[in-house]
Amino acid sequence: MSAIASSQASRQQFRNRRKFLRFLAASPLLASLPARAWQTRTLDEALANPLANPKDALDVMDFEAAARKALPAAHWGYLASGVDDNFTRDLNHEAYKRVQLRPRKLIDVSKISTRVELFGAAWDSPIFLCPVGAQDMFHANGEVEVARAAQSKKALQILSTVTSHSVEDVIKARGGPVWYQLYAVSNWGFTEKIVKRAEDAGCPVLAWTIDLLGGRNTEMATRYRRIDDRHCASCHGEPFGAIAARPMFDGLDMQGAVMNSPTFSWEFVDRLKKATKMKLVLKGIETREDARLCVEHGVDGILVSNHGGRATETDRATIECLPEVVDGVAGRIPVMLDGGIRRGTDVYKALAFGARAVGIGRPYIWGLSAFGQPGVEKVLEILNAEFRMTMKQCGARSLDEISRSTVQWRQS
Ligand SMILES: Cc1cc2nc3c(=O)[nH]c(=O)nc-3n(C[C@H](O)[C@H](O)[C@H](O)COP(=O)(O)O)c2cc1C
Repeated sequence: MSAIASSQASRQQFRNRRKFLRFLAASPLLASLPARAWQTRTLDEALANPLANPKDALDVMDFEAAARKALPAAHWGYLASGVDDNFTRDLNHEAYKRVQLRPRKLIDVSKISTRVELFGAAWDSPIFLCPVGAQDMFHANGEVEVARAAQSKKALQILSTVTSHSVEDVIKARGGPVWYQLYAVSNWGFTEKIVKRAEDAGCPVLAWTIDLLGGRNTEMATRYRRIDDRHCASCHGEPFGAIAARPMFDGLDMQGAVMNSPTFSWEFVDRLKKATKMKLVLKGIETREDARLCVEHGVDGILVSNHGGRATETDRATIECLPEVVDGVAGRIPVMLDGGIRRGTDVYKALAFGARAVGIGRPYIWGLSAFGQPGVEKVLEILNAEFRMTMKQCGARSLDEISRSTVQWRQS
């Protein structure tokens, strides 16, 4: 090819690429992406240079664009979705910008420890992996891949009731216990069997999720599903979300059984407490009043959560709920938090307001979707490194030294 023809071809290639990027930029799919993904790099850069290697990631948001590229539209929509207008989903992280740090200086922070104890077990870091259902939707070997990452990073993993892989297989891959998240079923006999199975498998803690008992409207997920009619029953059952297809329901005739029944009340907590030796955590507590009821009913720990903004729209951000929940339990049981944790500073702030540990959901699933185990590992690595640096900058050498006096709410 002549030099002129070659330069014409490359100009044409450049024009085509620009046309394609303009088309993508105008697409309603991109408009509904969380804005954060596009702030660190320009839209052109993010689309043209998606993360090729997890090692190149500078922050956990770098994995968001990579996951968007890796996933089918329906699966991306399910992952990114909040409820209604995604207001609470976004607020969970935005609210951290209203918390300012008051760092203490001239403390020798050359050696620090992020060790934390939860129900008698010690962990190297207070950052844990939240239960996220049906992870084969995001990677061929979903929860097993996450378990291997949790093992290599010594992180706590909580396994969802609607996991794609059985609790026994995940514990084997983790090489140690995981916590089990419960979606209770209206049929008590079935719930009892699931709880017993988790206990027999070696789970020391049962986290009952109570924030979906009134139903929800995952509108964004529905919109994405409408533009992606592929059948992938192996990922998540058919029809989409069919509960009978989950391995934790094997051997149970789930016809007619209702998960997250609106009939559940505090009486069910008492029943669960009697049915298991596992420690019981309630996931989804947001108020002082309910925190007190947890203590009265013998609950062992609280996870302040709004399901990553996937439960009730216009809830407060979890970081805004945390202080009153901590106040409600008055030190009697540990309080944890999840929702919107994207930076080490977020982790620090939650701990300063009294959380013992914090969970991440979407960030590690972005890593899983794009790169499998190494992606999850890198997400944990980045958040832990940022958190350690924040501790040092604020003069805290251990989690006990992360003091409430080092954070304040911005006034305006
Ligand atoms: C795709 C997806 C699936 C989830 N599945 C479950 C689940 O099965 N059980 C549960 O208790 N929470 C589930 N959650 C909520 C998470 O455990 C966690 O509360 C939330 O993701 C934390 O917010 P973040 O995503 O902003 O970090 C899910 C969240 C997402 C994004």
